[in-house]
Amino acid sequence: MHGSDREVGEHAPSAAVKSTEPALSVERITHQDVPEICALYRRVWESPASDGVPVELLKGWQPSPLEFTSRMEGVTYFAARRGGRLLGVVGCEVARGSCHLVDLAVDPEARRQGVASALVAAGVEWARHANAAQVWADALARFPAAGALFKHLGFAECGVLHKHEWHEDVRLFERIL
Ligand SMILES: CC(C)(COP(=O)(O)OP(=O)(O)OC[C@H]1O[C@@H](n2cnc3c(N)ncnc32)[C@H](O)[C@@H]1OP(=O)(O)O)[C@@H](O)C(=O)NCCC(=O)NCCS
Repeated sequence: MHGSDREVGEHAPSAAVKSTEPALSVERITHQDVPEICALYRRVWESPASDGVPVELLKGWQPSPLEFTSRMEGVTYFAARRGGRLLGVVGCEVARGSCHLVDLAVDPEARRQGVASALVAAGVEWARHANAAQVWADALARFPAAGALFKHLGFAECGVLHKHEWHEDVRLFERIL
């Protein structure tokens, strides 16, 4: 893979805010990133936010490096970093002309700083690049932050699958490209 293929975007902090913080970068992941990504998923899902979430789901959301590597066969992943530190991940699964965003997670200590927005923007860009006509995402109804994020980013809520994943309601969001 060429370096230029990996680079998706730089997301500088607002010009109005004087900050010495390094810019947020979003790039395609490589196999070298896998252990760090799995550690990020553990940090996200071992937090109190997971209280009450079915264990079957939590297990799938904290893949081992081997499990994650096999997911990479069918999914293109992007990682967001600031100053080299991994802050978030999203996967793009393109099939039948649409792009499903999967495995989106942001470090609990880096929330509300635009990390997920930058990752979803990279996913949308990737979907366009892959000639998809639509991007969609699903989120457990018990996670209002995910719903707020997708609506903030111009996705329409297009349905609910009741008791769909281990008895959990799942909300669906779509954005037509
Ligand atoms: C949902 C999640 C990915 C959001 O990540 P994030 O980096 O904090 O999101 P952003 O900073 O890009 O948020 C952009 C906008 O989305 C909305 N939003 C995000 N988190 C929100 C929250 N907790 N409550 C209300 N609105 C929220 C806001 O409009 C926000 O803009 P603002 O901060 O200027 O008000 C993150 O909370 C997370 O990893 N949660 C656990 C995993 C998860 O739910 N994954 C999604 C499964 S699909």
